[in-house]
Amino acid sequence: MADLSTTYLGLKLKNPIIASSSTLTDNVESIKNIAENGASAVVLRSIFEEEITIEAEHYIKEAVNSGYDESLFDYFDSRVKQHNVEQYLDLLLELRRHVKIPIIGSINAVTNHEWMYFAKKMEANGVDAIELNLFLLPSQLNTKCDETEKLYFDIVNKLTKEVQVPITIKISHYFSNLATIIKSLSETNIKGLVLFNKFFSPDFDIEEEKLISTYVLSNPQDLAMSLRWIAMMSDRVSCDLVASTGIHDGAGLIKQLLAGAKAVQIASTLYKNGPEQIGEMIRDLEEWMDRKGYKSINDFRGKLSYGKVKDHALLERVQFMKYFQSFK
Ligand SMILES: Cc1cc2nc3c(=O)[nH]c(=O)nc-3n(C[C@H](O)[C@H](O)[C@H](O)COP(=O)(O)O)c2cc1C
Repeated sequence: MADLSTTYLGLKLKNPIIASSSTLTDNVESIKNIAENGASAVVLRSIFEEEITIEAEHYIKEAVNSGYDESLFDYFDSRVKQHNVEQYLDLLLELRRHVKIPIIGSINAVTNHEWMYFAKKMEANGVDAIELNLFLLPSQLNTKCDETEKLYFDIVNKLTKEVQVPITIKISHYFSNLATIIKSLSETNIKGLVLFNKFFSPDFDIEEEKLISTYVLSNPQDLAMSLRWIAMMSDRVSCDLVASTGIHDGAGLIKQLLAGAKAVQIASTLYKNGPEQIGEMIRDLEEWMDRKGYKSINDFRGKLSYGKVKDHALLERVQFMKYFQSFK
């Protein structure tokens, strides 16, 4: 039987399938179910910066000192935040008792300070690693791209100084020079990069003429973006790369490993097909490896990466040219 084990962030994983951060990873029962169905690690639902900023009191004090009336600030709101934080830490403690696979905590951050102490608390409560979901939609006309990029490095540098557990960051593809950013981030003290996050994107209801949310789950075709960039970068970076978005089945998993991913993260396929899909994907990978004569994942990982394929144009080409002509 082929050996499916892999490593990610220095953690040994029994296979390359990690459950992504989502509402399926915010409670013990569902996480136990995911683990029993074969996932090798779980990323908890993110706690959002806004949920953590109970240190808001500090800012309230500052505001009061500057002449604002304290009653303008919502005490109840800060209690709710505290409750969210406590619930998250309780979940971690409980998971440590019930689940044996690595647990990766997740923080969704947009600034560089208030939530740092929470990362330390996560560490104290037994997370094996922390995934930072960093996304700033580059929609501000007055913000230069290097200012936005600097924030990523500031956050990463500060966090990797403050906590000892491995840090991985989940980024988007919204960068003007994506290859350089991926490489530069990989040369900080982070241990992994997750390519890429899928965003909530608004849709329009044309009858009601209003904004709605439609595209919550991905489709298998959505794998193309991360497949290209994992393949382009996997042998040119200094940290682990993990693929995310659009991986729905065994074929998607195998493609990402051929591109050079250390593992994949899945969410939409768990919503669509249930946690049993993890077992299906593992069986597909085993069957494929046996058929190809591969004994371990390292026998074929990165076989179709930038460094290994001769024709880089196939990875880099962004226009169709001859395909348009032949596509009748
Ligand atoms: C309902 C739902 C909730 C999610 N919540 C989070 C979250 O809290 N934090 C996060 O980093 N990503 C979150 N995601 C994004 C997923 O982790 C993943 O990056 C994205 O769905 C793309 O992977 P997929 O194609 O396998 O679904 C969520 C996705 C879904 C569908």
